[in-house]
Amino acid sequence: MKKILITGGAGFIGSHVVRRFVNNYPQYEIINLDALTYAGNLANLTDVENKNNYRFVKADITNAAEINNLFKSENFDAVIHLAAESHVDRSIADPSAFVMTNVIGTVNLLNAAKEYWKGDYANKRFYHVSTDEVYGALGETGMFTESTSYDPHSPYSASKASSDHFVRAYHDTYGLDIVISNCSNNYGSHHFPEKLIPLAINNIKNNRPVPVYGKGENVRDWLWVEDHARAIDVIFHNAKTGQTYNIGGHNEWKNIDLIHLLCTIMDQKLGRAEGESAKLITFVTDRAGHDLRYAIDSTKLQNELDWVPSLQFEEGLAKTVDWYLQNEDWLNNVTSGNYQAYYDNQYKGR
Ligand code: NAD
Ligand code: TYD
Repeated sequence: MKKILITGGAGFIGSHVVRRFVNNYPQYEIINLDALTYAGNLANLTDVENKNNYRFVKADITNAAEINNLFKSENFDAVIHLAAESHVDRSIADPSAFVMTNVIGTVNLLNAAKEYWKGDYANKRFYHVSTDEVYGALGETGMFTESTSYDPHSPYSASKASSDHFVRAYHDTYGLDIVISNCSNNYGSHHFPEKLIPLAINNIKNNRPVPVYGKGENVRDWLWVEDHARAIDVIFHNAKTGQTYNIGGHNEWKNIDLIHLLCTIMDQKLGRAEGESAKLITFVTDRAGHDLRYAIDSTKLQNELDWVPSLQFEEGLAKTVDWYLQNEDWLNNVTSGNYQAYYDNQYKGR
């Protein structure tokens, strides 16, 4: 049996990865390690929490002793590392937390893997999940490929770039079996409503202003989160050691166009008059150092591992809106700071 440590499994993307691995690989034992920060929510995993091949461990990757003890007692075969501080605006307000978790936390995991796998990496793997934001910003044309130079601009992307470099350094220096993927912006269910799409859905639903930074001209390449989880599955199982893959949706949208599409979908779903939700759009001061455009070339992943996105954006966005409208309790809980109470109720003494 393979014992796989997934970090950050209570977060947005991590919960989709945990769900996929627990459901698709009953022969694996999946251990979800998460510190349950504001972004971590065990309510994201209620459908798998009682499965025999799933366990949750509350731990903080910045705590090296805690991580070492866990590696010592559990003897993992692989790590899929998603735990991170993930929001650019928060990184602008407080870069230190990003250095601690994204850089130091990643190095703590690498050290533990190096120490406890003892140089025998034959059937071991360290998979690091990263972002396209490490490549910086594009102008009107071009796409990021795996050979694009790193040029991070925000404290978030600088911390992720640094963690990527450390992961590669542990491959080059110690021979650790690593793979890295750099993915574009994800969307879908269980997305914390501080990020553009869930924030806009929540605000439109509650008739609150929808803040659009600057003129809304910035472009992001949106990918359905379950397509990302499938890409991680494919890469984890099939990539050669030391490889990097870009993952993207071939789905570029200017923020303002995306928000208008969302408003149209919300008008239909909420039975509002056409154009009603769009009245909530409010242009606000731009983000400092706001990257103009991201676009991913995922040809390598398509050609080598036969992965392509499965879902059209309009369909995915409508499904996402449905999920948020059908899961009001989830939305209310995460916006009212009740994560911890949920955790205490459900997991006290475990
Ligand atoms: P998220 O913020 O929703 O979840 C992060 C999870 O990590 C949370 O459950 C949180 O509790 C946990 N965590 C944070 N600090 C921790 C610590 N010190 N110790 C243990 N756990 C900790 O993030 P997400 O959007 O799901 O992103 C997951 C990963 O994917 C990140 O590494 C991010 O950089 C990367 N990524 C995200 C996107 C995106 O669009 N969201 C795109 C590409 C890559
Ligand atoms: P976000 O979801 O924070 O992801 P990232 O910054 O990692 O790409 O933001 C997506 C885009 O939306 C980005 O260009 C910033 C913009 N944005 C807004 O215009 N308003 C908002 O309230 C937020 C959160 C983001």
